Amino acid sequence: MSSSKTDDLILLAGGLGYIGSNVAVQLLLSGYRVLIVDNLANNGYDRLAEIKEVCQLENIQETNRLHFENVDLTQRDETIAIFQEFKPYAVICLAGLKAVGESVAQPLRYYDTNLTIVLNLLRGMEYIDCCRFIFSSSATVYNSNSTPPFVETSPIGITLSCPYAMTKYMIELMLEDLVKYNASLQVSVLRYFNPVGNHASGLLADNPAVPLNLLPIINNCLLYKRTLKVFGSNYDTPDGTPLRDYVHVEDIASAHTIVLEKQSGYSVYNIGLEQPMSVLEMIDLYETVNNIKIIYEIVERRHGDVPVLCSNSQKLRNLGWTPKWNIADCVKHCYEAFKKQRLLLDFKTQQSLLDFKKQRLLLDSL
Ligand code: UD1
Repeated sequence: MSSSKTDDLILLAGGLGYIGSNVAVQLLLSGYRVLIVDNLANNGYDRLAEIKEVCQLENIQETNRLHFENVDLTQRDETIAIFQEFKPYAVICLAGLKAVGESVAQPLRYYDTNLTIVLNLLRGMEYIDCCRFIFSSSATVYNSNSTPPFVETSPIGITLSCPYAMTKYMIELMLEDLVKYNASLQVSVLRYFNPVGNHASGLLADNPAVPLNLLPIINNCLLYKRTLKVFGSNYDTPDGTPLRDYVHVEDIASAHTIVLEKQSGYSVYNIGLEQPMSVLEMIDLYETVNNIKIIYEIVERRHGDVPVLCSNSQKLRNLGWTPKWNIADCVKHCYEAFKKQRLLLDFKTQQSLLDFKKQRLLLDSL
């Protein structure tokens, strides 16, 4: 590392996403310069403005610490050009496709995209002798026959449920192997458990067009007054619904800056709160903390769901990682995001009503 972090530029691939934008904020607040490389697939330039707002990058000098390049990282020449121009000190990769169901429907697209992005980034790094890489992996790589809580050395691979999980597993294997043959390469793999919550500012929210995870789906049900479907209540768990290790997105983000400062060789870290919660417990907590009612019904199990996913995250804690938010904070911040979404929807409905009334007046005057 150079004498001052201010000189160190971190290339953040996929930095406009839900987790990526939170990582960008943590890096900037820790004193790094950040180059976000993103293809704007999930978020637009407004997300960049939110990152600046959260970090209060007001004057020009400060704003210059954040750069953005709209690049498709599956394109090798364009990716290498970015490395030649910016010469980053380290690379954090959060770019890629991540929908489990979609990966089953389009496996080749998943293998092609996720592996190509990592290969292109590694080639770019090789080009300029950059040797620090952090990869966002997932608890999904753990072998479903292993017994939780998982430690980093628990078996991975073999019985993975989908191509998305396979891409994470294959990339991990490749990275570990590369480090064997290149003593100067430093690679950290972060296995996220269930990222939830939103930045406490209410900005950088997880607003996918089609929500796929429990808390964004709860928000969607509240927004459109729908019934939440609970996928199965006959699992071998205390209340019959699956247990998950939910962890706040800001705490996931802070793990990146901690790991970046302590990289050495190849290392893997779990990121979870180590407090497994069932689906029914999450619903109950959401209702209690936010004083609202969630209408739900029990339906069939969802294909691919496992009964328990829970981490042992001691290795990361030993590096100095201390989660700032608990699970109640996660559901509170999630509900804050819901309220923002509802305001926006109300505003759009009002606008359409106004437009409708204007058109009627115009028609009546003809
Ligand atoms: C999912 C992905 C996993 C990914 C993780 C990251 C699947 C099968 N797995 O994990 O690969 O790393 O997100 O966020 O998609 N649930 C309901 N009703 C709903 C939605 C969810 O009951 O409408 C239940 C699920 O059955 C599960 C729990 O809520 O037991 C959490 O689900 P979800 O948020 O989708 O996360 P995972 O399935 O654990």
